This record gives sequence, C-alpha cells and structure tokens, in this order.
Amino acid sequence: MLKQVQHDEIKYMKTRKYFCPGRVCLIGEHLDYNGGFVMPAAISLGIHANVKSRNDNKIVCSSAQFSHIVEIDLSQPIEHETQAGWGNYVKGVVKYLQGAGLIIPALEIEFSADLPSGAGLSSSAALEVLVAYILQNEAGIENIDRIKTALLCKEVENDFIGVKCGIMDQFSVATGKKEHAVILNCETLEHEFVPVNTGDYGFIIINTNKRRELAGSKFNERKSECETALKFIQKHKTIKSLGEATKEDILNFIEDATAQKRALHVFEENQRVQLAGGCLKKGDLLQFGLLMNASHQSLKNLYEVTGIELDTIAETAITISGCIGARMTGAGFGGCGIALVKKSEMNLFKEKLNEIYTAQIGYPLSFYEFEISDGVGEKH
Ligand code: GLA
Repeated sequence: MLKQVQHDEIKYMKTRKYFCPGRVCLIGEHLDYNGGFVMPAAISLGIHANVKSRNDNKIVCSSAQFSHIVEIDLSQPIEHETQAGWGNYVKGVVKYLQGAGLIIPALEIEFSADLPSGAGLSSSAALEVLVAYILQNEAGIENIDRIKTALLCKEVENDFIGVKCGIMDQFSVATGKKEHAVILNCETLEHEFVPVNTGDYGFIIINTNKRRELAGSKFNERKSECETALKFIQKHKTIKSLGEATKEDILNFIEDATAQKRALHVFEENQRVQLAGGCLKKGDLLQFGLLMNASHQSLKNLYEVTGIELDTIAETAITISGCIGARMTGAGFGGCGIALVKKSEMNLFKEKLNEIYTAQIGYPLSFYEFEISDGVGEKH
C-alpha cells in the first residue's frame, strides 16, 4: 500500500510527455464524408505535450505557438467561445469525454508544435486526439481504444467546432503506423496498413503559405453539395452514401450540374485510391505518381477546391526533373501539396519550384521532409 502511494506521488510530480502526429493524405480527397476510400499516413511533424498533475479541479493549457492560456474549470459547464480560439478544441474534447463518463483529472498541459497550424496537415485533429489520449491515459484507462477516440474527436470537430469533416484525419493520427499508409474504408472503418517503400523516391510536403480563411465554410458547402447529389440518386435507388453510386447513377439521376461534378470526382477518386493501393503494394511508383496527378486535376476541375496556389505547385512540380507525381493534400483552398520526387534531385526540385512559385504568387513556399510515424502516444 505504502509503495503504491510513493509510486503515485512520483508519477504525480514528474512531467509526462506525449506526441500526436499530423497526417498527410497520399490520395483519396473529400471521400471520407462520402463513405469512400482514403489513403492517409501519420507524419513525423506533430504536436508535443508536457503534462503535469494539478491539485485543483482545472485543466490549464499553454502553447509555445499561441499567447493566451486556456483554463477550464472541470466543475462548470463547458461552452464554445469564439475568443477561446485553439482552446475550443481542448474544451470540446474535455466536454465530450466528460459526457462519455470519464472523470477528468486536473492537469497542466504545455503544447508545442512542429506542425504548421491551419495548413491542411490536420493540426486540429492532432490537437483533439492528443488531448483525448492524454486525458484517458492520465485517468488510468488501459488499452485506450484508438478508433473510439478518433470517433469522439470527429464529433467534437463536427458539432462543437462546426466543421463537418469526415473521419480521415482523426483516424490517421490516432491509429497511424510507422512507415505505413492506411487504406481506410470510411463507411465501415475497415482498414489495411500498407508499407510505403518509395526506394529512390521520397514524398515531400509543400506549403502554399496561403492563409485559409474560408476553408471551414467552403468545406461545409462541398459537403452539402454531395448531400444534394446523394438525394437525387436516392430518389431512384437505395444507397447509403455517395461512395456507393455508380457512374451511371451519377450521369442519369443527378439533375444539378454542380452536384453531378462533385459526385463524379467522388466516383473517380474512389477508384484511384484502390488502384493506388495496388501500385504501392507492387512498388509501381510511376503509376502511383500518375494517379496523384489525375487526383489533382479532378480536385481542380470537378471538385473545385484547389485555387491558383495549389495549381501552381502541382502543375509546375511535374514539369521539373525528378518529380513523378504531385497533388494538393487535405481540404484544399490553400494549405499544402505533396509531391513524389527522386531523392537525388530533391534539392534542385525544391529550388526550381520555389523560384517559379514565388515569381507567380508573390511569396515563397515552405517544404517539409517527413517520415511516416506511429499514431498518438506517451513518449517514454
Ligand atoms: C479535411 C477534413 C477531412 C477530409 C479532408 C479532405 O482534412 O478534415 O475529413 O474531408 O479535408 O479529404
């Protein structure tokens, strides 16, 4: 008994360290909320947290990136407040875990990130999943259910924050596996981890550095256009999600031109993810690269979520020696692109792309080389 108390006290005083990765989607964009297949991977850029116990009834958070302190009184009702900014992600997770019956311990959490925020690499999902994992682990939950954690965080994003995203981001940062991408069926959550062996080639993330102010509202607009498309088809046959529609359904039943374009993207991108999975398993990187290019064109012309900055990246990248595929990644409307480039030509590639982008757009790019990492966890 005495030993147990001493052990707890030591734990109570020590700082515990946690990490949650961001994610990059290799292919399969805007399919998760349509019940399709996606292929993301967790990345070595992410959010770190130092956690200490408190002896009151509060969660107090600070961040190396943002100045204001977030203080949550665990005995009071928790509400969304616009001025709380990033603190709303923490509040939402605390509230929803309390709702699920977890007794939340009082903690002091210091965050620091090497993941750019708001750049389409899932900084918000990383923060949600990190907080959800910390709170459960600190509350003594063993074998934390990563998929349930991802689902709870998605609900926070959908209902507390108000972005009607799918499950891809939370799922990938919660369950990620080192050196593997995951092929996830977003309707059933069945998934397969596939090793990413790119040999002489490497993926590189390219940040447009464009501010993404309208991303949330444009995102919700695309989601509702897809719901319109689904309703047209459901007048003629029973399907649960747009991901189940055939090309004929889309061409014959959708009476609205915009909704039809969105649905065609969903259909074709879904096929590309499955083909890309085969390419990754066979090591056919050239074909994988062509699928990335086709994905970008579809997101530009049918889904209309790219914009001049992402188009300049993707369309310029593939004209530069060593690059075999490039596309936007994440929600779009700014944010990041991803390219597959021969390692020996990477430095020259970055230099040339940056030069052309800066001349056309007026400000430079940022590049992130990364490894594919494990999902959220405590660091020992
Ligand atoms: C954002 C959303 C995801 C997904 C992507 C687009 O990252 O959070 O759920 O819809 O956009 O693929």
